Formats: sequence, C-alpha cells, structure tokens
Amino acid sequence: MQIRENFSLRHLNTFGLDQRARFFTEVHSLEQLKEALNWSKEKGLPVWILGGGSNVLLTKDLEGLVLKVGIKGREVIEENELEVLVTVGAGENWHEFVRFAISQGWGGVENLSLIPGTVGAAPIQNIGAYGVEIKDVFHRLEAIDKDSAESLIFDHEACAFGYRDSFFKREGRNRYVICYVTFKLSKTPVYNLSYGTVEETMHELGHVEPSLIAVSEAISFIRRQKLPDPAKLGNAGSFFKNPVITSQHYQSLKEKYPTLPGFPFDGGMKIPAAWLIDQGGWKGKRWGTVGVHERQPLVLVNYGSGKGRDIVHLSQTISNSIKEKFGVLLEAEVNHW
Ligand code: EPU
Repeated sequence: MQIRENFSLRHLNTFGLDQRARFFTEVHSLEQLKEALNWSKEKGLPVWILGGGSNVLLTKDLEGLVLKVGIKGREVIEENELEVLVTVGAGENWHEFVRFAISQGWGGVENLSLIPGTVGAAPIQNIGAYGVEIKDVFHRLEAIDKDSAESLIFDHEACAFGYRDSFFKREGRNRYVICYVTFKLSKTPVYNLSYGTVEETMHELGHVEPSLIAVSEAISFIRRQKLPDPAKLGNAGSFFKNPVITSQHYQSLKEKYPTLPGFPFDGGMKIPAAWLIDQGGWKGKRWGTVGVHERQPLVLVNYGSGKGRDIVHLSQTISNSIKEKFGVLLEAEVNHW
C-alpha cells in the first residue's frame, strides 16, 4: 500500500477542482482496502471514498485519507439461456462495462451508455438515463464496513433504491465501501426506446432495427450533443435532481406557465429542473470562473480555475431564485465534500 501526502485531486474529480488530500491511496483488492482502513483507524483519520470523481464537489482540502477504489475484474458467476449474473469490480469504468456487456450480447445497461464514473459508485445514486436505472439490472453488491472492516452483502431490497437515491445516500451514508457489484443482464434484450428522441436518433444514425449497439450509439449521440465532456469542461453532469411536487402545486404552476413539462411520479409530479433554471434566466450564465452550461442548464461548469465554493455559491443563488419564482426547492444531486 502506497500512501501519498498532500496529493492534488485535480485530475481525480470531473469538475477539475484543485483541492488536496492530506493522504491519498488507491487500493486494488479487498486486502489492500482493509489495510488502508486499518491504517486510517490507527491514526484516527476520517476516510473519503472516491470512485470516478464524477459526482463530487470538493469544497476544501481534505484533512484525512482519500481512498480511491481501483478494484477491477469481471466474472460471470451464473448463467442460463436467458440471463447472466456478472460480478464487476467497483473500480471498473462504468462505460467500459457497458461496452463489454454490449459486446457479449447482454442487454440491460445499453441505455446507460457514456455515464461517467465507476461501477462501484453507480448504485449509490442509482444512476439513470433514458428510461433505465441501475436498479432495473441490479442483483446484489459486496461492501466493506468502514468501521469493522467486515464484508457484507446487500441485496436489491437492502439497497432501497429511489430516484437518484439509495440506502448508501441515507442511513448508509459514509459507512461502507462498495467493492463488487453483481448485475443480472438479459441474453434476449428488450429495448427501451420510449424516452425522448432515442428511437428517432437511432433511425437518423442509419439503424433500421434496434440492437444493443444501435441503442447505445443513439444514446451516446444524444448525450454528446447535450452534455459537456468533463475532459474539456469541468462538470459533474446534472447538478440538481429533478424536483417532485404535489399535483396541486403543479396545477397552479401550469396555469401560470402553460409550457411547464411534468411527469407523474410517486403520487406527485416530477418537473425538469432544467426547465425551471432555463425559465429563471440562468441558462448559459457565467459567473467569473464558473457558470451554467449553455445547452443543458442542469449542468454547472468550471471554466478552469473555479473553486468548489464558487460552485456552491452559484448553486445556492440559483436555488434561491427558483424558490422565489416558482416556490420549488431544488436539491443538489452532487455530493459536497
Ligand atoms: N429543458 C428546458 N431547457 C433546456 C433543457 C431542457 O426547458 O435547456 C427541459 C425540457 O422540457 C426537457 C426537460 O427539461 O424535456 C428534461 O430534459 P432532459 O430530458 O434532457 O433530461 P433532464 O431532466 O435534464 C435527466 C437526468 C440526466 C439524464 C437525462 C436523460 C436527472 C437529474 N438528470 O436529465 O442524468 O441523462 O434525464 O434520461 O434526473 C445525471 O444524472 O448526471 C444526468 C445527466
């Protein structure tokens, strides 16, 4: 185990924020992970678990151990003619795993193409896009308890998935390190083309019939059009969750703003935060070194030398103005460290 000191995290978070970790290590196995957890425990240091760094906002230097999970590997643990159970190391890149599944002819994750981040981080916020969420293909995961270093299995129910939410964002917050995730994928894929322009885009790209590759290409195309590439412009995807409001609240807003979109959700209405931020006049606004993306107002960006606290300030100013104008509370999707 190699421990680095005063380590810059700039290249390990997709906002490109230049904060430092007092100590940093990357682990590649359960043994190394346990060793690192024991090391920090002996020293009485807090531990932050880093995956792909695509959903964190670093607001300060971290006076503890930042532990990057680099556990790799993919293994089929069970299969029949219809389905396959595949266990994947938490440190595998999510999109690489999607490509691997597609290459094997396994369906279920093609709509989640091109989402940044690692496999281990994916269940924490139940990543989702174009009508599919990870909960739809999730089987179970193995995690280590940070305190006891004990290994535990969490099945679907234990993860208590919700919209961009799970047990690991609530009661289990900061308590576990996810090491392996097992997915149940289908050898006879059923394509989900219902969301937005997926089907249309697939045809435009010359695919007559749906296939895993056709769906993945269409979704990658749509994402590239709308979402900035973190390698070129620092961002963490959607900064806010889409708020869910009561049907009555929705009706009263709809009378005032007839173009307000809404989707029935959990007994209420889910409305696009992008629409609210756009209507609030924030789309494309630049505040010094940070700003609101010009094509997708749900995404906050760092133009290069921005600080986490600038992004916090911008996000709070946006939330306040949306609260004032529409009476709707915007909740951050990105984790603040
Ligand atoms: N809209 C505007 N103005 C804009 C852009 C969008 O008014 O400039 C409105 C439109 O009405 C549009 C609606 O917002 O129909 C929704 O936009 P979109 O379908 O692009 O989806 P989203 O709500 O912005 C969510 C996820 C994305 C995911 C897409 C596709 C959340 C917080 N975000 O975005 O996830 O890729 O749907 O499924 O749920 C992420 O989590 O990082 C992420 C990118």
